[in-house]
Amino acid sequence: MAAVPGTPVNLADHETRARERLTPEADAYFNGGAADEITLHANRQAWSRLNLWPRVLRSSTLPDLRTHLLGRLWPTPLLVAPMAQQAWLHPDGERATALAAAALGTGLVLSMQSNTPLEQVAHDVADEAGRGPLWFQLYHLGDRAWSLELAHRAATAGFDALVLTVDAPIHGVRDRERRAAIRVPDHLTLPHMPPTAHQGHDLRALLQQSATWADVEWLRAHSPLPLLLKGILHPADARQACEVGTAGIIVSNHGGRVLDTTPATADVLPLIADAVQSRIALLVDGGIRRGTDIFKALALGADAVLLGRPVVHGLVNAGAQGVAHVLRLLLDEFSASMALCGVDTIPGITTDPLYREPPNLIE
Ligand code: FNR
Ligand code: LAC
Repeated sequence: MAAVPGTPVNLADHETRARERLTPEADAYFNGGAADEITLHANRQAWSRLNLWPRVLRSSTLPDLRTHLLGRLWPTPLLVAPMAQQAWLHPDGERATALAAAALGTGLVLSMQSNTPLEQVAHDVADEAGRGPLWFQLYHLGDRAWSLELAHRAATAGFDALVLTVDAPIHGVRDRERRAAIRVPDHLTLPHMPPTAHQGHDLRALLQQSATWADVEWLRAHSPLPLLLKGILHPADARQACEVGTAGIIVSNHGGRVLDTTPATADVLPLIADAVQSRIALLVDGGIRRGTDIFKALALGADAVLLGRPVVHGLVNAGAQGVAHVLRLLLDEFSASMALCGVDTIPGITTDPLYREPPNLIE
């Protein structure tokens, strides 16, 4: 069916529309990255640079997107990344995002810096039969008792796993935010933050608060939920995550928001897949904007992917419906990529459809 003229047809259209609506402060916070934004752009470019090399005359059935993750079968390999302060964008905030994700069978990772209490989000979606994984993201802010209390609250409320973000003990050096002199609106509250938490990029706070491998081991041992680490870029850290018994890792540079000039996630993913050897769940985020990007991530060894900023664009444009539209567009593109590469199932996605140079055509 033809789209109504002016309706966004892809995630870039949603971004254009959202940026016309956002205040300069919110635009700087939600769309910006660290320093020169080199990594922010590199994430996107690295997926685009990979070429697909399809086989033809092979697919006969509709692609089946069902995906195994942490021992369960879910409707899709897509999750919404944890993103702070969503009530800044829309009065329904994280509740709108969670409803859309559940309706589309995509997972949701709720940020510790959400404006909505985790119990409210779980109440809305945990019992939805067709939903994806429901995970709670936390920062370990130097207070083990607080982290453990959040872990227990998440488990009691119905979350399936915990995601400990390890790449952002302090706010990145964000030129765009400083230029726009952003101030988070006063009416927004952060119900999961410890009263003593320091904000900003104070190096003293970094040293007091940042987690170590000892904290990871401690949290894994005491957490009532499986634990994943978010923000892994180095194969040695990926191996260590396997050794300390985490359930999975998310290859991420925080969408280029923390330390600029780190490698693009698509570039390090194959090295990390090689280090992990399918021992634990492997996810990736950063710059995923097309269904072909999801396909490439899975071909490079990821079990699932997370989507960041496009979700906030959908939220700005039309609340829960906008988020649902963004997720629908991306999942439809992903299904088309599978069909056009001659692959029917998620486990059927191997490195075969990735073009390698120089191609060895004489086989
Ligand atoms: C984030 N991200 C993030 N990550 C996290 O672990 N906890 C958080 O609270 C936030 N908050 C947050 C806010 C905003 C506005 C953005 C854009 C991002 C990082 C996020 O989970 C994810 O790693 C990246 O956004 C993925 O990159 P893309 O898809 O935005 O390019
Ligand atoms: C950010 C923090 C909240 O990226 O993770 O803004």
